[in-house]
Amino acid sequence: MANFEVAFERRLPVGLLVGVHIPSERDEVPADVLAQLAPEERAAALELEGFRRTDFVGGRLAFRRAAGSLGLDGVLGVGARGEPVAPPGWTVSVSHKRPLAVALVAAAADGSIGVDVEGGDGRARMSIAERVLRPEELDVVQRLTEPEQWPAVQRTFALKEAIYKAVHPYVRRYVGFHEARVQPLGDGRFEVEMCWAEASPALLVEGAIEPLGEFLLAWARARPAR
Ligand SMILES: CC(C)(COP(=O)(O)OP(=O)(O)OC[C@H]1O[C@@H](n2cnc3c(N)ncnc32)[C@H](O)[C@@H]1OP(=O)(O)O)[C@@H](O)C(=O)NCCC(=O)NCCS
Repeated sequence: MANFEVAFERRLPVGLLVGVHIPSERDEVPADVLAQLAPEERAAALELEGFRRTDFVGGRLAFRRAAGSLGLDGVLGVGARGEPVAPPGWTVSVSHKRPLAVALVAAAADGSIGVDVEGGDGRARMSIAERVLRPEELDVVQRLTEPEQWPAVQRTFALKEAIYKAVHPYVRRYVGFHEARVQPLGDGRFEVEMCWAEASPALLVEGAIEPLGEFLLAWARARPAR
């Protein structure tokens, strides 16, 4: 698969996911690739250097392809905290894990979405477990066999990053990993309960994990509880 080409298009329960192949090695973004972006997206890309530029361009190309498939015309802006700013009426989330960048795009009527891609390198990093997992989540993981523990931590990490992206438009602040409690329901679905550290809107949040080739894909959707 050539760099900056679309790798796949997949329908998820919460939106359309598009993946774009991005370089694993340090590489320039060719002018004909930059030309595929909207002028505002191109200007934002040119302010970035090295891998940040290739990652950003991959995400914007994935958005462009998904937008085209959904009949959406518009620019994917950059907000104050680095979040993607979708065209009015839409919700968009971006993640990159070389050699893959993805964009998840949906109409905003059903809430705000988040996506995260993890894995690929197979390295276990159990040192992050306490930072990412609430004590009760850690208890559950510690009762698993050793080979099951890191995959369980990684799933929770990916899901919580997707949750952060989904809830961000409602809270517009940093949300710590202990502010969400997640529990597997089976079939890759998770029950999500927000445990806000400060006054925040009541949200209904759902999430899931599914395989994506050699990667792990997490998605989440948040909407106001009525
Ligand atoms: C922001 C964060 C989630 C990004 O995740 P990451 O694994 O580092 O990087 P990814 O490649 O998956 O995602 C990068 C994309 O996230 C998006 N993003 C950045 N900040 C964001 C925010 N506040 N809200 C939503 N999306 C955001 C951007 O689109 C960015 O891509 P782009 O710059 O090309 O547009 C992560 O760096 C972070 O701060 N995590 C700690 C907070 C957290 O996850 N808490 C859990 C709460 S339950």
